Amino acid sequence: MPFSGTERPPRTRQRRGRPTSSPATLVVLDAASTAPLWRQIYDAIRAAITDGRWAPGARLPATRVLAADLALSRNTVTAAFDQLRAEGYITRRVGAGSFVADTLPETLLTVRFAAGHAAPRTHHRPVEPQRILSRRGRAIATSCTAFSVSDDVKTARGGGWRVPPFRTGVPALDEFPAALWSRVAGRRWRSRSVPLWGGAPAGERPLRTAIRDYLGSARGVRCEAEQVVIVNGSQQALDLVARLLLDPGDQVWMEDPGYPGARAAFQAAGADLVAVACDADGLEVEQAICAAPSARLAYVTPSHQFPLGSVMSVFRRRTLLDWASKSGGWIVEDDYDSEYRYASRPLPSLQGLDTTERVIYVGTFSKTLFPALRIAYVVVPSVLVDAFTAACTVTHRHVVPQTQLTLADFLAEGHFHRHVRRMRALYEERQAALVSVAARELDVHLEVSPAPAGMHLVAWLRGGMCDVTFASVASAHGLYVGPLSQYAINTPPRGGVLLGYAAFPPATLGKAAVRLAAALGRAPGSR
Ligand SMILES: Cc1ncc(COP(=O)(O)O)c(C=O)c1O
Repeated sequence: MPFSGTERPPRTRQRRGRPTSSPATLVVLDAASTAPLWRQIYDAIRAAITDGRWAPGARLPATRVLAADLALSRNTVTAAFDQLRAEGYITRRVGAGSFVADTLPETLLTVRFAAGHAAPRTHHRPVEPQRILSRRGRAIATSCTAFSVSDDVKTARGGGWRVPPFRTGVPALDEFPAALWSRVAGRRWRSRSVPLWGGAPAGERPLRTAIRDYLGSARGVRCEAEQVVIVNGSQQALDLVARLLLDPGDQVWMEDPGYPGARAAFQAAGADLVAVACDADGLEVEQAICAAPSARLAYVTPSHQFPLGSVMSVFRRRTLLDWASKSGGWIVEDDYDSEYRYASRPLPSLQGLDTTERVIYVGTFSKTLFPALRIAYVVVPSVLVDAFTAACTVTHRHVVPQTQLTLADFLAEGHFHRHVRRMRALYEERQAALVSVAARELDVHLEVSPAPAGMHLVAWLRGGMCDVTFASVASAHGLYVGPLSQYAINTPPRGGVLLGYAAFPPATLGKAAVRLAAALGRAPGSR
């Protein structure tokens, strides 16, 4: 409720140097407001300046006069003036008082277009990449065809996220302990132990140490904290690997089907991708050695092949390591979701078996915490530590230190382990729910079997419909199923789609399966 001042004055502009209109007519204080009094004075004067009622050069009332008018202490008014001065709205001339600044901060922040020059058009015009991009630029611009960013994950009405059912790769976002995370972050801020000036290119020491400890015990990774480099998601790890280790034309073994994000990163570097089939024992290493023995790099997901789900056999692991150590090739081990193994203990990493430092190990918090966190890590052989650190400096300087330190505390205090344990049990239940609703609702269209690990299932198509058509029928009904061919370089021998389950409670999966079955029933050629 206002307790001082009167109606707003009419919009008349003050002339230069003249005292401004009576402050009491302008500053209307509200006793019920949660904003402090100095802030209310600041807001009122700033509004009068920015909407033109107080012109540049106009003199402000003396703080003593304004304080008396408003029946406030002079300090309160001075605090408002100090803030306005600090932000550039007013200036003070010794002995003459305070004046509205000639150039307002808003003007300095706004681009002005010369008379007769229209503002640039904001809509996207198609251009011919050959004409404007470098060779590297063209490779980057054309590398993403199979790698769509998740724009189907939308903000729901009223906040939160609406993830379309069956979307792959998304953890249970509504189960993320946001209040706990913000408490951990808040404690860092309150203790003023976050660096505000900058960060270390390869990452904050407490996080690198916490990750080293976690990987040593949970994944059998052998490394020092210096070898752990913090990056903005595994995608950046793959990009850095490509920048540092690949020249255009270098051969790279790719799992087929495989992860489109890796394909995009290596394609963007101009690599020659060698598609290698995967069977129940993972990447067919012997076939890869025959096809491209002097490849520069092999990209593998040995703990849980993406997207088919097989585990690389110990024999193949040894053959792969042996090839790398003899040929001088590098192995990128992407260990993206090994935390979610339901039937047995997670298998130790390939990196842990490597005695000749040929493995570059990549892990992410996108699946265990949330994808927008954009924090992942690369464990690099010691000979590559300096190069990766330099690459971080050149590409992004460093990952946001505050977030890194919150994450370090989250790991060190055991919250991460508890969350992963809880999610493991939850995802196992959700997978069972998906298998059961698929058998009930979708059995005519899909063959779905349980899997011992992961966050999605591969469902094999029974009818004659192609996987892309199947996915577009689903998409027309607000569902996301990943067509297997989108993950493949060569046409897969059998049609299939990926069904994600981790992000969805059983009731959502049930309703979505009913919706999908109804949509497929109406679609031509579904059987
Ligand atoms: C095989 C694989 N690696 C990595 C990622 C995660 O990447 P990021 O850390 O960039 O979110 C995904 C996500 O779907 C994936 O499927």
